[in-house]
Parts: sequence; C-alpha cells; structure tokens
Amino acid sequence: MRKTRDTVTFALQPVDKPIVTCRPGQFIMLYAFGGGEVPVSVSGIGSATLAQTVRAVGAATNALCAAEPGHVVGVRGPYGTDWGLHAAAGRDVVVVAGGIGLAPLRPVLLAALAQREWFGRIVLLAGARSPADLIFASELTLWRRRGVDVQATIDQPVREWNGHVGFVSQLIGRADFNPSRATAFVCGPEVMMRLSAKALMSRGMAPHDIRLSLERNMPCGIGLCGHCQFGPLLLCRDGLSSVTHEPSWPAGNHRYLRRVFATSARRGAPCASWSRMARRASAQ
Ligand SMILES: Cc1cc2nc3c(=O)[nH]c(=O)nc-3n(C[C@H](O)[C@H](O)[C@H](O)COP(=O)(O)OP(=O)(O)OC[C@H]3O[C@@H](n4cnc5c(N)ncnc54)[C@H](O)[C@@H]3O)c2cc1C
Ligand code: FES
Repeated sequence: MRKTRDTVTFALQPVDKPIVTCRPGQFIMLYAFGGGEVPVSVSGIGSATLAQTVRAVGAATNALCAAEPGHVVGVRGPYGTDWGLHAAAGRDVVVVAGGIGLAPLRPVLLAALAQREWFGRIVLLAGARSPADLIFASELTLWRRRGVDVQATIDQPVREWNGHVGFVSQLIGRADFNPSRATAFVCGPEVMMRLSAKALMSRGMAPHDIRLSLERNMPCGIGLCGHCQFGPLLLCRDGLSSVTHEPSWPAGNHRYLRRVFATSARRGAPCASWSRMARRASAQ
C-alpha cells in the first residue's frame, strides 16, 4: 500500500514458517533479490502479518518499494530491543515523530491504545516536510477519535494546509502532558531528535524518560560484523532505543558517548544505532 509519493507500507505474510512475533521498536532485515538487504523497523504487528514502511532512497529500498503484491522478499529477524512501553505504565505517553520516524513509533501508539487504561494522556506530535509527506495521515484522524492528542506540523506553509507550520520539536512547548510523569518516544532525523530531546528537557522531563531511536548502517544486524560497534556495545544486538543524557546531545565526543550509552545499558534500556556520528567520534 503506497503511503506517500516515496513511501510504501507492506503487509508481509510468511511463505513457509509462521512469522516470529516482534516487539514494537525491533527491526527486520529485508532482502530485495538483486537489490540488496536493509534494516527496516516494524510498523505494525499482526497475528499473521508484519507491516513495514519503507521510504525509497537507494537501490534496495527502491527495489522494495517497486514490489507488487505477491512479490517474495527475504526476511531475517526480528533484531534489536524494544521501546520498553511497559515501563511507561501509569504515565503520560508522548510520541514525537519526524517523517518516516512515525513508522517505528506506530506500534507504540497501537500498543498504548490497546491497553488504554494503563496510560495517562497519549500525545502524538508528528512532523513532515509537506502534507504529501505525512505518513499514516488517514490514521491520524482515527487515533484522534480514539483519544490521542494528535498534533501534526509541516516544515513550510502551503495553501492546502491549515495546521501547524514549523519543526515538530516546536510543538513540544505547548503539548498537553505532565513532564514529571511522562515517557517520551522520539524518532526521526538526528537533528530533529536532538532538538526534541532539548525541548522535552526544557519542559522538565528527566533525560532517562526520553527514549530515542537512532539509526546507522547495519550490514549484518546480528552482532557479527562489528560495523555498529559503539563503545562497549554492538548497537544492532543491544537495541534500537536509547536514553538521552543532556541537551547537548549528540556531541562529537567519544568518551561522552560511551558514558551516555553505558548509562543506557545499565538502565536496561540500551542503546541504539547511529552511524556517522559514532564513526566521526571514534575517529577523534
Ligand atoms: C535499525 C534501522 C531501522 C530502520 N528502519 C527504517 C524504516 O522503518 N523505514 C525506512 O524507510 N528506513 C529505515 N531504515 C533506513 C534504511 O535501512 C535505509 O534507508 C536503507 O538502508 C537504505 O538502503 P538503500 O540501498 O536503499 O540506499 P543506499 O544506496 O544505501 O542509500 C541511499 C541514500 O540514503 C541515505 N541513507 C542510507 N541509509 C540511511 C539511513 N539509515 N538514514 C538516512 N539516510 C540513509 C544514504 O546516505 C544515501 O544518500 C532503518 C535503518 C536502521 C539502521
Ligand atoms: S550490524 Fe553487524 S555487528 Fe551490528
């Protein structure tokens, strides 16, 4: 199913063994035959299907997005750790998504809605470059009807848009949640996550209540190749979500990063993937 001009959501069904259950936040290695293999987060978890939402940016993702219904793709996984939504029970849930970042966060929202009584307010702040780039746009209305406080924003004003204009991090200041008893789940481009973490902390949220999903190139996904080594951690193996530490994140300082991620690991919510910065940092 095409979601935007360059983004497609697939419902994957097994051709042999049943699909292994995934947890929100985990990722799958998807192989487009002849196109290559890439990590893609799970965007929906059904009893017999897995949904994955892919933005076409290069050879493998273009091949995946061009696949027609019935096409066979290779699947490995799931890998990585989950968002740890259960730890937010009894608290407000604040989901901050930039662009394709809403895909890995969709299972968080669906799981929170499935156990609605466990949580306080549920707030979704979603940003996109333009209305046409807003993924799951039709679901935003459904989630709003189910009691989610949904705020969407686009980067630049356009005639057909009456909503917020500006970066998604700018919505955080006036979002309706209790910072002292909220857990935030953030995914999007690195700069968006940094600004969002800063804005959440300006509202008074504790750093360890802010979970981030960070990305990097992951060739194997199973802790073998070492490409995703990050201080003492292998990010593909140790997880997808992380806990930020202070507003200056991400800083290009290796010792600092080791401290951030070692802290995350000790908290039992390790980790992350994230490439260019880690590589730059370890080169310093
Ligand atoms: C854990 C994890 C989960 C991910 N989940 C999703 C998802 O749910 N949906 C989705 O569409 N993508 C997701 N990605 C990103 C996806 O894996 C990349 O877009 C893909 O690897 C690009 O491969 P390609 O061969 O199509 O393009 P390439 O030829 O490898 O790259 C094409 C262009 O895209 C850029 N690019 C490559 N990888 C990334 C990246 N990770 N982030 C930003 N730019 C990149 C390159 O710099 C290049 O300019 C995830 C990545 C990781 C590590
Ligand atoms: S991607 Fe190979 S070790 Fe993590």
